[in-house]
Amino acid sequence: MREQISLRMAQPGDVDAIVGLVNGYASDSVMLPITNERVALALDDFVVAVDVRGGVRACGALKEYSPSLAEVASLAVARDEHGGGLGRRVVAELEGLARMRGIDELFALTLTAGFFESVGYAVTERARYPEKIRRDCVSCARRFGCNEICLARLLRADTLEYAA
Ligand SMILES: CC(C)(COP(=O)(O)OP(=O)(O)OC[C@H]1O[C@@H](n2cnc3c(N)ncnc32)[C@H](O)[C@@H]1OP(=O)(O)O)[C@@H](O)C(=O)NCCC(=O)NCCS
Repeated sequence: MREQISLRMAQPGDVDAIVGLVNGYASDSVMLPITNERVALALDDFVVAVDVRGGVRACGALKEYSPSLAEVASLAVARDEHGGGLGRRVVAELEGLARMRGIDELFALTLTAGFFESVGYAVTERARYPEKIRRDCVSCARRFGCNEICLARLLRADTLEYAA
């Protein structure tokens, strides 16, 4: 049986674990790498899932682009927890945080589109988010060979108006 795991906002002591989790996937080219400095600066935007010993088993962050728009970023679940519902829980927690902040639209750029579709996101055009392209994509090393898929969800109405 899986042990109890709870979700909370990240704390300074979680920085190393978050970076370790994300960069473990970055080394497989599944995610882009992050640094301790960037996580420490954005700590208020990170959610972590922790086990009873305080070990970080999953993380995710909201990356805000405007008062109403944010990206679901740095979403990572420890490999031995895959398939246990932690990814869904972290996304739900980030959506709750977004609602509290008045954000009503979330998007993600990912290689695992199937996961995001399972949790209520619909495929859309990256061009809908020029803020993202300006801030990250234009300087990304993978910009000419990027195969990430863009998905989005409206929190306001929960309508999948992005489909098709
Ligand atoms: C993608 C990831 C976050 C999913 O986390 P998880 O805890 O294994 O997912 P969950 O158990 O919450 O699954 C929720 C749903 O998504 C589906 N799902 C999970 N991973 C999936 C995948 N790789 N492809 C398609 N569907 C997937 C599950 O079947 C489940 O669907 P269901 O509820 O209809 O049965 C995790 O595999 C991960 O950390 N991957 C490496 C990093 C990564 O790809 N991050 C994504 C953002 S860049």
